[in-house]
Amino acid sequence: MDFVKSVVGAEMAAVDALIRDRLYSEVVLVRQVAEYIVSSGGKRLRPIITLLSARAQGYQGEHHRELAAVVEFIHTATLLHDDVVDESSLRRGRDTANALFGNAASVLVGDFLYSRAFQMMVNCGSMRVMEVLADATNIIAEGEVMQLMNIGNVDIDEAGYLHVIRYKTAKLFEAAARLGAILTAADVGRETAMAAYGMHLGTAFQIVDDILDYTGKQDEIGKSLGDDLAEGKPTLPLIYTMLHGSADDAAIVRDALQHARREHFPAVLGAVERAGALDYAMTVARREAEIALTQLAGLPDNESTQALVALADLAVNRSS
Ligand code: IPE
Ligand code: IPE
Ligand code: MG
Ligand code: MG
Repeated sequence: MDFVKSVVGAEMAAVDALIRDRLYSEVVLVRQVAEYIVSSGGKRLRPIITLLSARAQGYQGEHHRELAAVVEFIHTATLLHDDVVDESSLRRGRDTANALFGNAASVLVGDFLYSRAFQMMVNCGSMRVMEVLADATNIIAEGEVMQLMNIGNVDIDEAGYLHVIRYKTAKLFEAAARLGAILTAADVGRETAMAAYGMHLGTAFQIVDDILDYTGKQDEIGKSLGDDLAEGKPTLPLIYTMLHGSADDAAIVRDALQHARREHFPAVLGAVERAGALDYAMTVARREAEIALTQLAGLPDNESTQALVALADLAVNRSS
């Protein structure tokens, strides 16, 4: 990450300033909640991708910063809503906004951030940019609803799982990378490749997130372990165990998904470990990251391209 930060550092500081500036509302509670979640940090991966994608392709303008901020606003809005839906209490190493300010405030400020993002993207004056971001935001919402429909579903298969995470997570990574190509008026082939880079990177990233929900360290991921299980979310490690684990281990996972409770966590962790499901999920994540890498082949060899390469590795080999 140090290398990536050294490449985007100065520009990311400008994006952060923009984010703070655009958070402004005359409504006190909006400011409080929005500033609370934005100032608690976060990796800022998606805006970094937008900056790098534009710069790798030689972009010289200013719009990439505004769009990077837009992408982070959309991401932040999804987090505010997601933590309400998932009943999560820890995010970025702090109490979630819903834990501190309540569900209603989180949902409403999430709406504020979505709509502020849409006000900002208009500044770019590009219908195509607005189309990409409107589509991505819509797909994310569908992804979260599809996931909701699959709570406690012990029959979902890997393809069904991948479908959900492409919608709820990878779509925004896809948009973040695609925007860089649009800003530089790249040809269709290049734009498609950049979009595919983002999509596969985002898929790898979410698979690893789902692994870390079992194997991570709370103070590194900044979230409570076991949130997915407590909610009855059939993520890849569980799906694999139900299909390929021993009959006993498969039964442990099925039972835990159907009666989602945090107390099942140690037993389920044992089952997924015995089944080799975490290793399997890592293999799938690595495969996605590899596909992401191949999309960068035609880019000019510069620091930004090298940072995009590094990100593909970081999405998989991370502990936070
Ligand atoms: C969290 O994303 C939501 C997922 C898609 C897993 P990040 O892990 O990028 O969250 P922050 O912004 O760094 O906190
Ligand atoms: C990410 O899913 C949600 C969105 C990107 C909308 P998760 O529910 O797995 O994310 P975390 O683990 O809460 O960050
Ligand atoms: Mg969540
Ligand atoms: Mg998660």
